[in-house]
Amino acid sequence: MSLQFSVTRNQNPLPVAKRDEVLAAPVFGQYRTDHQVVCVWEKDKGWVSAEVIPYGPIQMDPAAAVLHYGQEIFEGIKAYRHDDGSIWTFRPYENAKRLQLSARRMALPEVPEELFVESLRQLIAVDGDWVPEPVNEKTLYIRPFEIAAEDFLGVRAAHRAEYRVIASPVGPYFTGGLKPVSIWIALDSARAGKHGTGEAKTGGNYAASLQAQGEGYEQGCSQVMFLDAETGTYIEELGGMNLFFVYKDGHVATPSLDGTILRGITRKSVIQLIQDRGIEIQERKITLDEMRAGINSGDIVEVFACGTAAVITPVGQFKSRVETIGSSDAEPGALTASLREELTGIQYGRVEDRHNWMLRLA
Ligand code: PLP
Ligand code: COI
Repeated sequence: MSLQFSVTRNQNPLPVAKRDEVLAAPVFGQYRTDHQVVCVWEKDKGWVSAEVIPYGPIQMDPAAAVLHYGQEIFEGIKAYRHDDGSIWTFRPYENAKRLQLSARRMALPEVPEELFVESLRQLIAVDGDWVPEPVNEKTLYIRPFEIAAEDFLGVRAAHRAEYRVIASPVGPYFTGGLKPVSIWIALDSARAGKHGTGEAKTGGNYAASLQAQGEGYEQGCSQVMFLDAETGTYIEELGGMNLFFVYKDGHVATPSLDGTILRGITRKSVIQLIQDRGIEIQERKITLDEMRAGINSGDIVEVFACGTAAVITPVGQFKSRVETIGSSDAEPGALTASLREELTGIQYGRVEDRHNWMLRLA
């Protein structure tokens, strides 16, 4: 790789005793490590610099394009400490490819795959002590992101962009452990439309989800489920996770990738693990009507959500302003629990990594 990283160490890192306090019980997203990665891209020059610098605010012109036109993309990936102390990550080339897909859609420069993976290595090289012990689902959540950093108010793709990586020690996204969560069905707002940006991991999709998510919180739900924008008929995904349905006859179904939902890496991995067990998995359109009828009749016996942050989380109940489907005190399903056990086992190095998904970072 031609671009060489320079490293400027933080002279005021969080004292070890304080860091240990944070790592004892990290709340999702609340704390950040001592350093960040910043790489700069300029039109006609390409990627011109790569640095590790102390964590701190971004100095930015108020006219920077990202602040006005939302030209921003991001990724979510975790670093796992194994029992022997080594530090690993899960399928980073998949995240690198998805960041490139998002970049193309949002007219940002593509971060080369090797630069993406090297940026993770570089951050872990200085902040490795921030990767928590492998207990209670603790990990270091890494957030690579790219922003349009040119100060120019005309509407066009920016000529200057920054790729940055920050990291945050985390515990479980949902604090209830394996307790099934309730999901709010968004009937009055859509997250993404046909030929829109639904497949890109871009900030605007999340901004568009927050109103419905707020309604859901008021109703005791912890995530929101979106339907297709055109007809309001088909189940798409949650605000930050993909969905799976387990049927009584043994098969599993998940909404197909039609360009409006995120190509979840956990989703792809779960599909593989299901296939490995010889279980039929269908990627297809699933309507809200089918889900309602299936849960009410007992044809659908388990529902779970999955994503990097949420891992695999059972869903007990769906609510909307017109109905309640399922029950909030449902037990987590057997397949849900065992897939979660297998996936986290691979990630923490306790189950054989037969697909070579793990990459050692340190
Ligand atoms: N869908 C959305 C909207 C998400 O934000 C995420 C999380 O990144 C996912 C699905 C799951 O994707 P992954 O498994 O790659 O984390
Ligand atoms: C992730 O899982 O990485 C996400 O970006 C989703 C969000 C709920 C944190």
